[in-house]
Amino acid sequence: MRSDPLAYLNTELDNLKSQGLHRSLRILDGRQEATTPIDGKSVVNLSSNNYLGLTTHPLLIERAIAAIREFGVGSGSVRTIAGTMEIHMELERRLAAFKKTAAVVVFQSGFAANAGTVSAILTKEDVIISDELNHASIIDGCRLSRAAIKVFPHKDVDAARRIAHALPAGQRKLLITDGVFSMDGDVGPLPGLCAVAEETGCIMMVDDAHASGVFGQNGRGTIDHFGVHGRVDIQVGTLSKAIGALGGYVAGSKALIDFLHHRARPFLFSTSHPPSVAATCIAALDVLEQEPQIIDRLWANTRFFKAGLQRLGFDTGMSESPITPVMAGEGSRAMKLSDRLFEEGVFAQGIAFPTVARDRARVRTIVTATHTQDELQFALDQFEKVGRELELI
Ligand SMILES: Cc1ncc(COP(=O)(O)O)c(C=O)c1O
Repeated sequence: MRSDPLAYLNTELDNLKSQGLHRSLRILDGRQEATTPIDGKSVVNLSSNNYLGLTTHPLLIERAIAAIREFGVGSGSVRTIAGTMEIHMELERRLAAFKKTAAVVVFQSGFAANAGTVSAILTKEDVIISDELNHASIIDGCRLSRAAIKVFPHKDVDAARRIAHALPAGQRKLLITDGVFSMDGDVGPLPGLCAVAEETGCIMMVDDAHASGVFGQNGRGTIDHFGVHGRVDIQVGTLSKAIGALGGYVAGSKALIDFLHHRARPFLFSTSHPPSVAATCIAALDVLEQEPQIIDRLWANTRFFKAGLQRLGFDTGMSESPITPVMAGEGSRAMKLSDRLFEEGVFAQGIAFPTVARDRARVRTIVTATHTQDELQFALDQFEKVGRELELI
């Protein structure tokens, strides 16, 4: 009989188990909401990227259903063959106006937008200057491009400047950062990095996945927050987080977008969004314009919860956004904190190596606009109880 060629995976899984790092998927039994049934238990949900509660907003649901009735459930093709519907074009026009750029192209996910763009615009002759904590989709895009990758310490503008200045004149180079860092919730130093890009002729790229819908006027992102419109050549946003649906996009010049239509592999080789997703995202942009007060509610909740954690004495790192890490040290401790919180009715996912450094494991919390103060206070009370038990405070 043939022996199982994948048997080594069991050894790897046993290693994870012995380190307390093996996870089973948590299953949501209902809607993605502030309090929701997960694994058969009603819990306060502090693990969703649904910043504004748009996953269940009535207008988005209504527009999605109407689009299904009108156009069906699928697009039937990749964008470059028969899968570009007028509603895809309408969404891109709306996103370009939202981001104040000449053009936008939508991808199937934020991951595809980052990986597809970086790998399309660079070759092995080029150099990428990248923050050490940039998202995995940027890292994969960098690897796929085969360009040389030079990593600078987190948010260290001077280090990025030194790397850029040391490169030969005429070297094509990309300077790339997250707008909001997904595991730490801190904000990229955009004005400083834009200055480096201008001094040294770098292409400047910002991944605003966690900032779109959260920072800037009506949620336009960190480029708007810092007032650096026109200084960032490539902006990436996601439609999967604050926008409440699924997808990613690249905003920039007409030439950039035209080039990506021809060379970005996820655009060329993977089917486009169902029309209902495009309709949902257009409705989300309407909500951002018409109900900016939900963004104010998100920030009020963020301030309340972050201050509560800090008052209790937790180490919340350098967060400047609704993402607040609660540092726990080793991976197994973060997982224990997460498991005990869940038992007490709070879902906050533990995050360990390789997503973060081995000694920087944490529970990551994200509040949304739709949490009530009672829900957040309940969560804080459970953090206090479990934090004392595990001697984190
Ligand atoms: C910083 C960052 N960029 C990109 C992505 C990918 O976005 P999406 O979930 O739409 O693929 C994520 C999602 O985890 C992210 O945190």
